[in-house]
Amino acid sequence: MEQRKILVTSALPYANGDIHLGHLMEVIQTDIWVRLQKLQGHDCVYVCADDAHGTAIMLSAEEEGITSQQLIDRVNEQHQRDFADFLIGFDNYYSTHSEENRILSESIYHAIDDNGHIARRKIKQLFDPERKLFLADRYVIGICPKCRSEDQYGDNCEVCGSTYNPSELINPRSSISGATPIEKESEHFFFTLPAFREMLQEWTRSGTLQNSVANKLSEWLDEDLQEWDISRDAPYFGFEIPNTTGKYFYVWVDAPIGYMASFKNLCDRTDYDFDIYWNKESNAEVYHFIGKDIINFHTLFWPAMLTSAGYRTPSAVYAHGFLTVDGTKMSKSRGTFINAQTYLEHLNPEYLRYYLAAKLSSGIDDLDLNLEDFVLRVNSDLVGKVVNIASRCAGFIGKGFEGKLASELDSPELLEEIQASKAEITNHFNEREYGKAIRVIMALADKANQYINDKQPWVIAKSDKQSLELQQICSTGINAFRLLIAYLKPVLPAMAEKVEEFLGIDALCWADIDTLLTDHSINKFQPLMTRVESDKIQAMVAATQQEHEAQQQTEAKTMGNDNSGFEKEIEYDDFIKIDLRVAKIITAEHVEGADKLLKLNLDIGLDKSGGPITRTVFSGIKSAYDPEELVGKLTVVVANLKPRKMKFGLSEGMILAAGPGGEDIWLIEANYGAQPGMRVT
Ligand code: 2FM
Ligand code: ZN
Repeated sequence: MEQRKILVTSALPYANGDIHLGHLMEVIQTDIWVRLQKLQGHDCVYVCADDAHGTAIMLSAEEEGITSQQLIDRVNEQHQRDFADFLIGFDNYYSTHSEENRILSESIYHAIDDNGHIARRKIKQLFDPERKLFLADRYVIGICPKCRSEDQYGDNCEVCGSTYNPSELINPRSSISGATPIEKESEHFFFTLPAFREMLQEWTRSGTLQNSVANKLSEWLDEDLQEWDISRDAPYFGFEIPNTTGKYFYVWVDAPIGYMASFKNLCDRTDYDFDIYWNKESNAEVYHFIGKDIINFHTLFWPAMLTSAGYRTPSAVYAHGFLTVDGTKMSKSRGTFINAQTYLEHLNPEYLRYYLAAKLSSGIDDLDLNLEDFVLRVNSDLVGKVVNIASRCAGFIGKGFEGKLASELDSPELLEEIQASKAEITNHFNEREYGKAIRVIMALADKANQYINDKQPWVIAKSDKQSLELQQICSTGINAFRLLIAYLKPVLPAMAEKVEEFLGIDALCWADIDTLLTDHSINKFQPLMTRVESDKIQAMVAATQQEHEAQQQTEAKTMGNDNSGFEKEIEYDDFIKIDLRVAKIITAEHVEGADKLLKLNLDIGLDKSGGPITRTVFSGIKSAYDPEELVGKLTVVVANLKPRKMKFGLSEGMILAAGPGGEDIWLIEANYGAQPGMRVT
């Protein structure tokens, strides 16, 4: 088989947010495909990077009081860790804020400009008069000029998918300050997309795109194509456009060039040759895996820019749908907007890889992660079917035959049948019909289990632990298991590695599916995968909800902050509403299932008839105090805070404490003759 040269990318995640299940679906889809190519012996390179430019990143850094560079460096590290934890085998993970990308972006721009594909003209743009910046793309919210949907961003409409300029929005407002934007004039640079209509009509119909995508695009291509505004005014975090001051490339210009730059960075450290992959006559293949929301950037602007600049165009762009959880859009408040790290605190990454693979297809329909189905599917397929084959056979081989597989197999027919599905499974994987591939593999696993059921090796073992028949049956089972694991290796690389160790074999590749293992010693069977426990799922959802609540509290606190870090000024009338009282801690106890909370019972004075007034307060000071040391202490409580229903009960106030968190939280202690119930003024 001829070795193909293949370059593959996934969309570049923005450098100001955590990796979540949505990103993971895309990189898992891509990674499975890449691993398949590598296993087949192709020279397949997988690169990605953080998408580090734009207003969002600049503002996030400002909010945190750090530089954009500091922010993108920190996030890059986190993203790389998250992807590695999910076994995503990037050959390079870089950043669009790199010298390679600056050089490539500038040279592509010069080439496009030299070809007469850059137009310059002054345009009126929306400007935030409070924040003193032009409100590009996503910072203007208003009504879509095409379909009239409300609350759409300024660069494209999430409802109808059309792209436009922010100034075309109806009833615009600044999402940064809420101010009504004013119009201000400045010179902008435009890529003359209409000059590429014919090229794009041909390219989009040349087998490079899924049919549904090509159909959608042909609607746009038949309508009037707009020139594309590729510049943004300062302040902006990005690359300055050559020979200008205060004009920057729009983030979507240098983002796809970032694919090339990440690859260039790899080429500079290895034997890969950049030009072989990107020159016009290249017979290497280039594939972009993306979400359906960014199709137009990859199938209109990007191939047109590449063509103008004299580079090859992608071999194909593969779009996928969105990930929903339990039938709806991922939601922070429902706890289904799950971050990579939160998932990993509770579950094995290969469960997710498998579940998504079992449901992925080549289309752009949304994929639903149904949490109940997730548990059932992983348990029944991976643990119940696949691992079960090995665990039913390995023990007998170990005990009766010192780990040695038979030299003749009991059912070569079963194994031939499994091997005969190779072309079909390969084809499904290649076509990104992973769900179909998994169905075939699981049907084969069913057959293998049925075979073991029929042969009942445990019955034979009862009378003769060393019978040849027993060895040949169990060796057949182990061989079936090996073949199934080889098929699943693109999806479950870590499990495959454990199996290779167990079987005492070299790393499996696709060609190994044509061979069998006989007269060979295997190692002691170790549990390969444990069952998913549904309480882990609940804990993950609850943790996501807690993260969201904590984030909202921080945001509420910092809202209105000036740079001093103090809260916004309040009126005396607001202050006097807060009823601060001295409180004596009567009891303090741990709360079952709560990581951070202690439950306190407080004495806050006497009522009119002389009876004690007590309050129950849940307080997040567990990391700093043992309950015993709190009993008897006097502190200060906000006594008139509206009771709040929490997961563990009703909290009827809030005690005051200071400190950054963790062990460093200090309860504000009342002293000098203070008595419970005294008002703190
Ligand atoms: O939509 C996004 O998340 C973008 N950061 C994807 C960029 S993909 C490529 F063009 F760089
Ligand atoms: Zn619209």
